[in-house]
Amino acid sequence: MYYAVQQPKRIVFGSEIVDKIGEEAKSLGAKKALVVTDETMKKLGFYEKVHKPLSEVVEVDFFDGIEPEPTLATAEKVANASRAGYDLIVGIGGGSVLDMAKVAAAAAANPDQEAGEFLGANKIVNPSVSKILIPTTAGTGSEATPFALVIADGKKKAIASPYNIADVAFLEAAFTATMPQRVTASTGMDALSHAIESFLSLGANPLTDSFALEAMRKISANLEEAYSHGNNLKARMEMSLAAMLAGIAFGNAGVIAGHAIAHTIGTRYNVPHGVSAALTLPYIMEYNADAAGERMNAIAKALLGEDTGDASKAIAHVRGMSERMQLPTRLSELGVSKEDLRSLAEDVVKEKGYLKRNPREMDFEAALELLERMW
Ligand SMILES: [Fe+2]
Repeated sequence: MYYAVQQPKRIVFGSEIVDKIGEEAKSLGAKKALVVTDETMKKLGFYEKVHKPLSEVVEVDFFDGIEPEPTLATAEKVANASRAGYDLIVGIGGGSVLDMAKVAAAAAANPDQEAGEFLGANKIVNPSVSKILIPTTAGTGSEATPFALVIADGKKKAIASPYNIADVAFLEAAFTATMPQRVTASTGMDALSHAIESFLSLGANPLTDSFALEAMRKISANLEEAYSHGNNLKARMEMSLAAMLAGIAFGNAGVIAGHAIAHTIGTRYNVPHGVSAALTLPYIMEYNADAAGERMNAIAKALLGEDTGDASKAIAHVRGMSERMQLPTRLSELGVSKEDLRSLAEDVVKEKGYLKRNPREMDFEAALELLERMW
């Protein structure tokens, strides 16, 4: 047996703790920080809240030009902005912003590399400058993973590097309390898909299992409460922790065919990642149920809190969560036409990185049959 697990160097969490950000910057020895964020976060006042304690310790600039589901052009822009002597990057936002903060931190330490040259595994040459990642959703787990996702040539591609892992994952529950219901629902279900897919992954190990199972318990117990009572900071905190735990789980064990499908649909139909991940989740559980055996029962136990020995209850529970939170549960609801399914299946089977970790093999015919069920 041989396992290795990577995770953020430091995890800071609580609610109304934003004043602590100065201490974090100080302990990293930073002098000049670039805050990477987007316009919405800036409008919500998060930049100002972080700027105050941060500016007592370091010189601070900001870049707020990140759009959802960022393309390589955005990555190049943030990379250029970061090459002005910054030794600290602070990301405030959802997964897209945090991923671009990782690109900024890599670019600041690698003036000779274009952002496009980071694409792939272990392509960042010098270790990135320090980064503090502050998620404002409880979903992608980007603050805990070695991945940054970028749309290049119409496909979602990954920059995977241990240098992408946060020095500080800073979980401020109060920042996630402003999420609209639909975003709470979709990002929370994305976190659940990370927990479940990494638990089913052939790359799972005993440590990622414990992170994944705890994430499932927390999400099952808190997501619908956070959805219906957005100001419940305890539920928000539990969701932030769950998303991060799920991030550590999938950052090491990997996600499976569900994410091959979710990314293919998300990119082609411009659907937010959490929506396509939520839609795919119960179907990919069903698809893998026999191959995964006992693992499905363990998922059911984590989600339902009792050992029913019945995996179908886990699938029904996950489907019910999406339905109760008004998320789409069929591809036809996303504007996918039946004629598109064949070409979607062709693209899904090209995602070999995800498929090789799937417990049950997926060829073109199987992918098509699954997409037809989802339709
Ligand atoms: Fe995801």
